Amino acid sequence: MQATQPTPERTRLGELWEVLPEEASASVEGVLEIGGVPVTTLADRYGTPLHVIDETGLRRQIRRFVDGLRSRWPNSEVLFASKSLPAVGMYRVAQEEGMSVDVAGGGELQLALAAGVAPERLHFHGNAKTDDELRMALDAGIGTIIVDNDDELDRLERLLTRPQKLLLRVIPGVEAETHASQATGGERSKFGLPMDQATAAIERMRVHPFMMFEGVHLHIGSQILNTRQFAEAVEKISSAGAFDTYDVGGGLGVKYTYDEDAPSVDAYLEAIVAAAREHLHESARLMIEPGRSVVARAGITLYRVVSVKRTGDVFVAVDGGMADQLDVALTHQRYEAVLADRLEEPWTERVQLVGRQCESGDLLIDGVDFPAARVGDLVAMATTGAYAYTMSNNYNGALKPAIVFVREGEARLVARRETYDDLLALHTPAAL
Ligand SMILES: Cc1ncc(COP(=O)(O)O)c(C=O)c1O
Repeated sequence: MQATQPTPERTRLGELWEVLPEEASASVEGVLEIGGVPVTTLADRYGTPLHVIDETGLRRQIRRFVDGLRSRWPNSEVLFASKSLPAVGMYRVAQEEGMSVDVAGGGELQLALAAGVAPERLHFHGNAKTDDELRMALDAGIGTIIVDNDDELDRLERLLTRPQKLLLRVIPGVEAETHASQATGGERSKFGLPMDQATAAIERMRVHPFMMFEGVHLHIGSQILNTRQFAEAVEKISSAGAFDTYDVGGGLGVKYTYDEDAPSVDAYLEAIVAAAREHLHESARLMIEPGRSVVARAGITLYRVVSVKRTGDVFVAVDGGMADQLDVALTHQRYEAVLADRLEEPWTERVQLVGRQCESGDLLIDGVDFPAARVGDLVAMATTGAYAYTMSNNYNGALKPAIVFVREGEARLVARRETYDDLLALHTPAAL
């Protein structure tokens, strides 16, 4: 452990460093720093709730995927599953570090193009792409469309005026060991076609003059901690036939809590590539699409304590909640958090960390140990770089938080905070 990552008595800070960003440390005053910037400075400058991303750790993690896959399987491509953090600045970092990008809707496509991602490096997903979205993607010169179903092929038959690279999403029949809402590769999945229907769809593409069918895609789910499941998926996809390209999706899980273990990027790549060596032909192009495992650990969410209430339970309520951290209600994901400006103090009290939205399910952490919290303290919720910003919403009129990237002592605003004017701008003024 580095000297700047202390473990005072009666805390689990030593373990907390493993779920905080790689470039997290403590100042001598006991204030959490990310990328060399104290969180107190970030909160004062940008307000709270605030998504803070450790850009150095993020870039390092991207390289682990890109270099790690290339060294094991040279004919390969790593796509950033941009739904995990669709911010223009994030798309830019992904491309700079050697990733291609997957988008799953017109909005993500617009953000990626605004970031300057080369259209040919974009891959378009979705089980219900509309005519407008497909037209937008084709006009932009999108690299690859991952076809989900026969209706989409009907649309493409109408819309295509020149050759277009396509993959077909298939259902591998792998039941991922994860939360039900995050499992996407089981027999009853809404995504893709079962293997027996895939053959006819592939034939349809092969005979069409503009449909350049290149291979198959699957994605078994998210927050998967057992690497054998990825190997199983590779084996299953090989049974679809011999093609140029196999995209085996994303899904690598991350360590969210002290007690959880997650596979390293290397262990994950080893499992996939070992299965590819066994089941795919050696000239095949191998693609993966990590999202969560790229950005989750790099991010924290900073909140300010608004109220501390002792009513039997100790409720520490902050200025955000499930409107900016929806996974707590959607998947009941457990997180860890710390009083970020009081790192040196012993954790003396077990609290319910709650948000400000009008739902009892708005429980950010069910039981976390803190020093006795006070109004105005800063809370850092760890491992929240993925799927938090993207799922944020306006419940109770909440405003979408800002995103800040920090690196080597400097902070830069990547997305500004939503304002009440933004909120009002969507509505037709009432006739008074
Ligand atoms: C098609 C597809 N690819 C990749 C991903 C990324 O998954 P993860 O963020 O778990 O790596 C998803 C997310 O569920 C997805 O639907």
